[in-house]
Amino acid sequence: MLFSPFTLKSVVFPNRIVMPAMCQYSAEEDGLALEWHYVHYGSRAVGGTGCIIVEATAVEPRGRISAQDLGLWDDRQVEPLRRLVDFCRRQGAVMGIQIAHAGRKACGPELVAPSALPAGPDQPTPRALSQGEIQDIVGQWGLAAKRAAEAGFDLLQIHGAHGYLIHEFLSPLSNARDDEYGGDLPGRMRFLLEIVEAAKAHWPEDKPLSVRLSAVDYLEGGLTVSDTVQIAAKLKEAGVDLIDVSSGGLLPAPIQARPGYQVPFAEAVRRGAVIPTIAVGLISTTELAEEILANGRADFVALGRELLRNPYWPLQAMGNQRENWPFQYRRAARN
Ligand SMILES: Cc1cc2nc3c(=O)[nH]c(=O)nc-3n(C[C@H](O)[C@H](O)[C@H](O)COP(=O)(O)O)c2cc1C
Repeated sequence: MLFSPFTLKSVVFPNRIVMPAMCQYSAEEDGLALEWHYVHYGSRAVGGTGCIIVEATAVEPRGRISAQDLGLWDDRQVEPLRRLVDFCRRQGAVMGIQIAHAGRKACGPELVAPSALPAGPDQPTPRALSQGEIQDIVGQWGLAAKRAAEAGFDLLQIHGAHGYLIHEFLSPLSNARDDEYGGDLPGRMRFLLEIVEAAKAHWPEDKPLSVRLSAVDYLEGGLTVSDTVQIAAKLKEAGVDLIDVSSGGLLPAPIQARPGYQVPFAEAVRRGAVIPTIAVGLISTTELAEEILANGRADFVALGRELLRNPYWPLQAMGNQRENWPFQYRRAARN
């Protein structure tokens, strides 16, 4: 099944292999894509990855994870990404981009969050956002979505995982607000749903929209799988097409990572909210990838570090299907 196509809206994914968003810390302070990004993403497109999700790309400078993050807060940032998208699409890859705001885990001097609670015992305390500031940030997500569309991306992913700003709103461990952006799950979800709405106002209707979530916080009182299924169901109602199911990152927590450790979360969301999912986390063999797909546990498998080790993993997994190799490399395909 790894090499069967999958359609979401007008986009046909040539196979089920996804490269998940992975920060490269390789831009300059202006957030523009550079040669590193062309070679790095281009290699995975040549290597047969069906869908590449470009790294966390900041919706405003204050939301960067590092000063070398890509950005989509300025119109100047569109053109270099358009070149990247054009090249990778010509190799057959579906091109996605993850737009992000790091909230209290950002790199700059001004840390903002739903509440003045730090990301761990030795971490700095952020400032709680006012409602007016929340509206401004929602607007920035919308504009970043517009610029992603202008760059020609096929898929937009909103980063709602790993303890960054959206996740900070979602989890009761980081959101202690007593206004309509806090409290019960519908309140904590409001920020994300407003971002989805703002993104949809600018993102083409015929292109898929994805959200990445951390399914669990691995901590007492934190987000649970059942919360995440409810969030995913609401996102589906709001017009989201695909949930990328990760976990953790909010606060230090014990995690027992092993091959496929997050797959049960992707499966729970897929079955519980009846929405396509991406499974991710220590997936590096075709056997595990095929098992996940064949048993309907997810619709896509994302390989992060494995694709960093080996950009040609998909070509190798294709074996002797020479016709699927880039023509430039066909003499090297096994047959
Ligand atoms: C170098 C590196 C950078 C990452 N950056 C991001 C990111 O920008 N956004 C994100 O959602 N996850 C990020 N992640 C997490 C990956 O997308 C993925 O979920 C994680 O590596 C687990 O998958 P794997 O075991 O296949 O590597 C990053 C991981 C790595 C190794």
